[in-house]
Amino acid sequence: MIQTIQIAPPDDWHLHLRDGEALECVVAATALNFRRAIVMPNLRPPVTTVDQAVAYRGRILAAIEKACATGNYTVEEKAAMRRFDPLMVLYLTGATSPHEIEKAANSGVVKAVKLYPAGATTNSDAGVSDLLGQCGAVLHAMEEHGVPLLVHGEVTDTDVDVFDREAAFVETVMRPLRTRFPNLRVVFEHITTEQAATFVTENSGRDSQGRLLLAATITPQHLLYNRNALFKGGLQPHWYCLPVLKREVHRKALLKAATSGLPQFFLGTDSAPHAKHLKEMSCGCAGCYSAPYAMAMYAEAFEQVGALNDVSLFEQFCSLNGPAFYGLPVNEGAFVMQRKKFEVPTSLPFVTESGIVPLRAGETLDWTVTRLV
Ligand code: NCD
Ligand code: ZN
Repeated sequence: MIQTIQIAPPDDWHLHLRDGEALECVVAATALNFRRAIVMPNLRPPVTTVDQAVAYRGRILAAIEKACATGNYTVEEKAAMRRFDPLMVLYLTGATSPHEIEKAANSGVVKAVKLYPAGATTNSDAGVSDLLGQCGAVLHAMEEHGVPLLVHGEVTDTDVDVFDREAAFVETVMRPLRTRFPNLRVVFEHITTEQAATFVTENSGRDSQGRLLLAATITPQHLLYNRNALFKGGLQPHWYCLPVLKREVHRKALLKAATSGLPQFFLGTDSAPHAKHLKEMSCGCAGCYSAPYAMAMYAEAFEQVGALNDVSLFEQFCSLNGPAFYGLPVNEGAFVMQRKKFEVPTSLPFVTESGIVPLRAGETLDWTVTRLV
């Protein structure tokens, strides 16, 4: 049984950091575990322009400085936190222009554009209702400039069963999108189904520069849990995220994809902080807060299928495949975890008095992060 995992520092390719006080509460957890993160733009109002993305990035870096100045961190931890590099994303709306895409491509700050189908998830009302009908010119510009489209892949048609919305999206949007924009680079975000895993496995060619055209991120909760977790002993709001957890057959397919060594699958926590009282209410928010302990959960998932014996598979998923897709260097330094039991706190400080309940609150994890250098 391996006792220590050492890999190149990982990145989180799908993360919600929020803004203001909430940002200040959560940013350190990510900066202590990941060297870079693709930061989601679903703020209120959303981040739709390069100027807004640059300003938001500044607020993230300022929040890290504030955490270093006021928090109880070691010198080594502060150094790790200060090396955190937020990679920014624009929120695609019907008004996004090809000019803004060109500006994004030349910005050095914005790495992708995010599609939220209108009404699909938290803060998605400014999103797009008909991608292919509404955004043709912008998608062409993204193809031309090599700017990836990050996709929340669920149809929003209320006639479609909530557990089938991703599979329906594969056929009604993903397939036509790949046909009409064959050189558009796409990340199918937080995949949750066998259909999505198969689609990404079978349809990812490379562009003329040898870059992958289609990839997917996978969250820790979708690797470790099926939809039973939502109803275990009663309604469990802290397990509710979108896309919602699926059946066991899908979880197995995701585990297979993540541990396959295929370059198109990489880590994206979708850590999405919501205050405790907003999760535990009659109409609770979607989103699991996993950032502080996500790496231990990914290790547990890999270990479940015997994929930790060859730590290179874990490193590919956590630290190599993402940078390769985005054309970025692999992080220098090292990330180390020890097999050491760790009890997840039942609540962490957050903006409001109610605090925030992390994923797996009160449970014991097998792995403890010991070092990011
Ligand atoms: C995310 C959030 O809270 O911003 N929620 C979630 O359930 N994943 C939005 C999203 O990524 O869908
Ligand atoms: Zn998300």
